[in-house]
Amino acid sequence: MDSKEILDKLEEKNRAAMEGGGPDRIQKQHDSGKLTARERIDKLLDDGTFVEFDRFKVHRCTDFGMEKKKIPGDGVVTGHGLMNGRQVFVFAQDFTAHGGSLSLAHAEKICKVLQHAMRVGAPVIGLNDSGGARIQEGVMSLAGYGDIFLLNVLASGVIPQISAIMGPSAGGAVYSPALTDWVFMVENTSYMFITGPEVVKAVTREDVTMEELGGAMAHSAKSGVAHFPCPDDETCIDKIRELMSFLPQNNMEDPPRQSTDDDPMRRQENIRDIVPSDPNKPYDMRNVITACLDDNYFFEVHEHWAPSIVVGFGRFDGMAVGVVANQPAAMAGVLDINASNKGARFVRFCDCFNIPLVIFEDVPGFMPGTHQEHGGIIKHGAKLIYAFAESTVPRVTVITRKAYGGAYIVMSSKHLRGDIILAYPNAEIAVMGADGAVNIICRSQIKKADDPEAERQRLIEDYREKFSNPYRAAEHGYIDEVIDPADTRLKIIQALRMLSNKRDSNPPKKHGNIPL
Ligand code: HXC
Repeated sequence: MDSKEILDKLEEKNRAAMEGGGPDRIQKQHDSGKLTARERIDKLLDDGTFVEFDRFKVHRCTDFGMEKKKIPGDGVVTGHGLMNGRQVFVFAQDFTAHGGSLSLAHAEKICKVLQHAMRVGAPVIGLNDSGGARIQEGVMSLAGYGDIFLLNVLASGVIPQISAIMGPSAGGAVYSPALTDWVFMVENTSYMFITGPEVVKAVTREDVTMEELGGAMAHSAKSGVAHFPCPDDETCIDKIRELMSFLPQNNMEDPPRQSTDDDPMRRQENIRDIVPSDPNKPYDMRNVITACLDDNYFFEVHEHWAPSIVVGFGRFDGMAVGVVANQPAAMAGVLDINASNKGARFVRFCDCFNIPLVIFEDVPGFMPGTHQEHGGIIKHGAKLIYAFAESTVPRVTVITRKAYGGAYIVMSSKHLRGDIILAYPNAEIAVMGADGAVNIICRSQIKKADDPEAERQRLIEDYREKFSNPYRAAEHGYIDEVIDPADTRLKIIQALRMLSNKRDSNPPKKHGNIPL
């Protein structure tokens, strides 16, 4: 063969590989509103930067006539490239080839990407679109899943791992995305479940559609398995790129800085009006958060789940931060089971990857009741304490109004190594609200009074005067500074700058035992 023939052969092989499962199946993929694996990678990475691994890899199965059904790449496109100029690794399952199902060879390709990513310290993005275990391969494909799970766990906390569900993800296959840091789902074309509607019907007699059981909104609003529901593939990919802009490459690096024209000294007088002084009046904490952040921009995570706590990313003077905030507009900002889990997992992610935390606090306490108690609010609430207490990243807390009881301690208080605690002048740092406190500690005094209601009101006022303010806590140094709400942005930036070289550590141990 002369050199031209040699190159022609390579070109022919490349062309065959690019076709995946062939034009008909590509058409079917497009007809169902989905991009192909290669189109997704092209949109995900900076133009022309994708370098592919294992383009010609095929399965080794000889059962069920599979020896005659070999598709180059075996249902997954893998490799590396740049995202906003930074190195990332990627795999995208190709539903047009064997339904994206996972053979051992397919799993080996994903494992290769994960191993490279861990070695060089770069994030991994997995685009999932698969019929699950390659049925013809039996236990070999299960072994492949096991190999991936192990690497997902070993990579956890070392490099950011992102999963997008852009098609089916059923059975044990759901556990690789679940082990990663972030799960994106595309509405109407993706679903995740342990078993599909037919098995559900047979076992529990429930009638449920795929979308209701495991669609993007089911997992974003009900189970909390997914963080970002997206209307289509393009939006999903854009959101992944945006999330990545807040994250460092690995656990040894700091998140990237992004220059901004937003003045660090910018005062925001409207915050004085956003937070009502009446402790029972709701307001949207997002308005406080966005007022303070660079360019008023907040990238919210888990927007539809556990709404009494708000988490997400933003920047202060170009520095990426994780924001954790109680949300008085939803159930008064109470901490329930889901809110505790949402907050704890977010805090731990930020701590893994050196992302400072800014906490906006307005919390009446933990959610009472049998539903919560029997669901384990004690254990779940403990996770949030644990997550804040063990974290060593810079932490700045702003108490905007209520900080009651155990919830005051939990929300990154001084007692849990919170670095800087700021409070607004009308903040209330107390064991509980004035009404509740007076009803408990002054019951007999109220009963004995000539006018019990007047006495009750007098005692409530008295309690409020004494305890429902930030100054008691400030006298003890539990609050570093009582601030004008208009200065919140500046005060947070000053604190973050002061803390930028913070070093702290925990006692040596194999790992802690977070109450799971
Ligand atoms: C082999 C598979 C496959 C699989 C799909 N295909 N799933 N091949 N193993 N698991 C193939 C089909 O044979 C078909 O091949 C092509 O992919 C497209 O599939 P269709 O059924 O035509 O597509 P669609 O109608 O869109 O249905 C998609 C689907 C369905 C809902 C995902 O294919 C399906 O139910 N597949 C099986 C799902 C499943 O039970 N997987 C195992 C889960 S258990 P041709 O050649 O005709 O195009 C599991 C355990 C993991 O994953 C455990 C880890 C610990």
